[in-house]
Amino acid sequence: MRKQIIAGNWKMNTTYKEGLELLHTLKSNLEPITETEIVICPPFTHLDAAKNIVNNTEIKIGAQNCYEEESGAYTGEISCKMLQSIHCDYVIIGHSERRTYLRETNAQFNKKIKLAYAHNLIPIYCIGETLSERETNQTYTVLETQLREGLSEIALETNPIVIAYEPVWAIGTGKVATPDQAQDAHQFIRNTLKTLYSEAIAQTIQIQYGGSVKPENSTSLLNLPDIDGALIGGASLDPLAFTTIIKEALTLQRS
Ligand code: PGA
Repeated sequence: MRKQIIAGNWKMNTTYKEGLELLHTLKSNLEPITETEIVICPPFTHLDAAKNIVNNTEIKIGAQNCYEEESGAYTGEISCKMLQSIHCDYVIIGHSERRTYLRETNAQFNKKIKLAYAHNLIPIYCIGETLSERETNQTYTVLETQLREGLSEIALETNPIVIAYEPVWAIGTGKVATPDQAQDAHQFIRNTLKTLYSEAIAQTIQIQYGGSVKPENSTSLLNLPDIDGALIGGASLDPLAFTTIIKEALTLQRS
């Protein structure tokens, strides 16, 4: 059975002090929970301190991005090797905000995923269609291309990955996919993984849903057969909301 994995993507929010205070609150709320995987992705400036705060707990720390080269003259970028050196566990790759604002491509994400593996990081690879792509019936084509190109020459037989399905039109908008829309996309993603790899691999990969997940809608989403967790932006900055979603996931997992 796949474990639920709930990740909080803080994006470009919180000062150092605010972020560490938030993490201390989350740690005391979430420390006893071990059946649901929990990943917190604060800004780069907080990562090292964040890792120290959650040391000796089951809470994992993730970066929100990494660069696609090993090292060198890339002013302002952060490498996977640097993330490994502070014992970061996960790295978000391919977030739609990077696809949209930074014009990053599937080919770049493919290089980033390979570097993540070279440095012992688990990628959370984000995919999802825009509103116009959905309205013109291109959702499946977009998801299939993002998976095929992003995962090109990557052996998931030996490397762990988390896929996050985040319909772009649902991110930060308050619009959430209906359970039918979400289950349909997740099932398509799992079937595509089966075609690209095998049934056994497709069945083990955790596929998170992301896009305006809140305590009010999390149960109906996390209850769906192909949804194995959530990637949460806005609500992850609210300790009560984030904790409530995780406790809900835990209840579903136990039932
Ligand atoms: P949201 O963000 O929960 O604020 O919609 C999700 C994400 O971008 O990962």
